[in-house]
Amino acid sequence: MLPFFGHSLDASSLAPHGACLSWDPPLIWLSAVSDTLIAGGFFSTAFFVMFSVWRRRDFQFPWAWWAFGVYILLCGVSHLLSVLTLWVPVYGIATVVRGVVAIMSVGIGAALLVVVLPRFLVLPGRVQLQQAYAALEEETRQRRSAEAMVRRFQEIEATESQVRQAQKMEAIGQLSGGVAHDFNNILTVITGTIEILGEAVKHSPHLAQITSLISAAAARGADLTQHLLAFARRQPLQPRNTDVNALMMDAARLLRPTLGEQIEVESMLSPDSAPALIDPSQLSTAILNLALNARDAMPDGGKLTLETGNVVLDNSYAGMNNDVKPGHYVMIAVSDTGVGIPAKLIDKVFEPFFTTKDVGKGSGLGLSMVYGFVKQSNGHIKIYSEEGHGTTVKLYLPQATSVVGVADAVAAEAGLLAFARGDKSILIVEDDALVREYVVTQIRSFGYRTLAASNATDALAIINGPDIIDLLFTDVIIPGGMNGRQLATEALIRRPGLKVLYTSGYTENAIVHHGRLDPGVLLLPKPYLSSDLARMIRTALTA
Ligand SMILES: Nc1ncnc2c1ncn2[C@@H]1O[C@H](COP(=O)(O)OP(=O)(O)OP(=O)(O)O)[C@@H](O)[C@H]1O
Ligand SMILES: [Mg+2]
Repeated sequence: MLPFFGHSLDASSLAPHGACLSWDPPLIWLSAVSDTLIAGGFFSTAFFVMFSVWRRRDFQFPWAWWAFGVYILLCGVSHLLSVLTLWVPVYGIATVVRGVVAIMSVGIGAALLVVVLPRFLVLPGRVQLQQAYAALEEETRQRRSAEAMVRRFQEIEATESQVRQAQKMEAIGQLSGGVAHDFNNILTVITGTIEILGEAVKHSPHLAQITSLISAAAARGADLTQHLLAFARRQPLQPRNTDVNALMMDAARLLRPTLGEQIEVESMLSPDSAPALIDPSQLSTAILNLALNARDAMPDGGKLTLETGNVVLDNSYAGMNNDVKPGHYVMIAVSDTGVGIPAKLIDKVFEPFFTTKDVGKGSGLGLSMVYGFVKQSNGHIKIYSEEGHGTTVKLYLPQATSVVGVADAVAAEAGLLAFARGDKSILIVEDDALVREYVVTQIRSFGYRTLAASNATDALAIINGPDIIDLLFTDVIIPGGMNGRQLATEALIRRPGLKVLYTSGYTENAIVHHGRLDPGVLLLPKPYLSSDLARMIRTALTA
């Protein structure tokens, strides 16, 4: 056997390759062309495999694919060598290449059967992939609708909490407004009579000191009720077209000494800021309050920025803030780099008497006033704060569209003509007996004649009677089936030319529409000094 195998493997006994094809030219050429084409097929397959693995990073087992590519390449080379050996007897090289291909065939065969086949069989088919894709799509759809639902719930929750907050503020406003109104009546008597008392005891220093103490306490009380009325949106406002930039520049100038050296003030006023329709003196007070809060929040110094600009609050903003009417506003922002407000306190800062300052340092009415003023002016207020970084309060005030007729007769007061008092008669309508008594005494002391009624019915009876009446001085809220405004209307029908002066602890819709005094209306807000009373009576009689 062995000699047989040795003889068979002896290369020198192999016939030249052409002999295998009987030196038949057509057979030789068919073999050469076929091998060349087969080699071309292998090369392009090898190129396809290797190029694909190189470009696509998501192939599993890339090393196996590279090995497969090399194997196919060598198969191609082996066929080319078969062509070559027809003419050139490089059987050694051809056999070595075939040997390598054989070894690789074993490795690749084993890898295909043992490693790849089991995995290949569990790969999902096209239908399975389609089903998985459909399931994924369904899941995505369900997730999207669940997310939309969660968002909707969050929106509802946010709106509900806004409504709750607004209702809470409304309730507190009504309570504080009511209390302030009644206190005003009491203070009106005290503030007015204390002057008379002071005059009477001016020769006794001890008593004079007591009266000035009472007077100071009454003034503080009046301040407090004023603040509460501002929060309750019941202060009489005198809105007019106001140049907010000029007002802010004045405020910045006035604030400079109050803020101290450590606080830098920067003004970023937009030159095209539209005029706002607001009560300028109340706006100055609001800016002052905001700046003082900023100062208190920056004990170690910092920066106060005052900004103005025109903004449009659109429907989507109004949707998120249900007190906002979409439209054009003038925005005023007061920002500081202070300690900021913790998120859990943000909802509370507008409430009256909410303060984090030490006893005696803050009354907790500053922001409440600003809030009430902005709301009463048909504006919107927003506070943004980042604990440890600072706070911005933004006021959105309605832009002035036209000049509003404001009952501004007080301004003309300086040019009043002198007139004889004794021949003037004033009808006083006031339900609070204390206040009525005080007013009657006061007005008499000014030298006028007086008539008094505690309700609308009695007042109308007097108006229908024969007495001369030059001025009707009436509280806005009175018993007797009609308010002060309606009483005045009735009185004017009966006595055209009658002058009217209103007084009120707070202003009701009777004379204040949308937070502004009706044109031509004169109002003396309670509490008032007797000098205010005298001045307004003169103004009313000469109006
Ligand atoms: N700019 C601000 N930075 C940090 N906290 C502020 C700021 N503005 C207001 N606050 C917080 O809101 C609270 C209420 O402010 P508000 O102006 O109503 O009252 P106050 O400043 O405490 O007292 P008042 O203004 O009546 O003297 C403050 O006590 C403070 O805690
Ligand atoms: Mg304050």
